[in-house]
Amino acid sequence: VHGAIVRPARAEDAGQIALVHVRSWQGAYRGLIPQAFLDGLDVAQRTRTWERALAETDNPRAGVLVADDGRNVVGFVGYFPSRDPDADPDLIGEIGAIYLLPGAWGGGIGRRLMEAALGRLAGAGFTQATLWVLDSNDRARRFYEAGGWSADGAAKQDDSRGFPLSEVRYRRSLSSLS
Ligand SMILES: CC(C)(COP(=O)(O)OP(=O)(O)OC[C@H]1O[C@@H](n2cnc3c(N)ncnc32)[C@H](O)[C@@H]1OP(=O)(O)O)[C@@H](O)C(=O)NCCC(=O)NCCS
Repeated sequence: VHGAIVRPARAEDAGQIALVHVRSWQGAYRGLIPQAFLDGLDVAQRTRTWERALAETDNPRAGVLVADDGRNVVGFVGYFPSRDPDADPDLIGEIGAIYLLPGAWGGGIGRRLMEAALGRLAGAGFTQATLWVLDSNDRARRFYEAGGWSADGAAKQDDSRGFPLSEVRYRRSLSSLS
């Protein structure tokens, strides 16, 4: 996937974002979360969720950026004010999701999406960013650590999907970006 551009998501991207989301989950989380859940992920249902999310984005403090290779969305990143109870949502921005099609992993697109999202958060006045990652997601943790993030000691278990997901929080400063 060469020459992808990073741009704000449009309402009509919902279906392609949903497809990337489902394919990326199925590729990245195989063996980490129950296979029945991965097999049951439904692009049409996810599309409706993304249609709602794209309609609600609260620019400039929240938004979705996509990597577009000229034909398709190959990755996306979503960001918004932190929802964590210990965080000041005026100062702490969150990277809520960053997902690429499996065929695009390792080619630098994730880094470009991340840098663009962090630039938007810095420009919107946030001083730090946080994100939650599955503790067993080694590829993503290496990617974040290479990008200046470090685990801040917070951990939580998300049971909202009917099975436990153990997540750890990463944090980085945005001061070099503003
Ligand atoms: C995690 C993910 C978004 C990373 O995107 P990517 O395009 O694969 O990553 P990149 O190619 O940009 O980065 C990979 C390389 O650049 C390094 N890198 C990334 N950001 C960097 C930075 N800011 N500075 C220096 N190096 C960096 C990485 O360590 C890695 O190095 P390597 O080639 O030696 O392995 C992508 O792999 C993905 O979609 N994974 C599956 C879904 C997932 O797990 N998402 C995270 C959920 S919390």
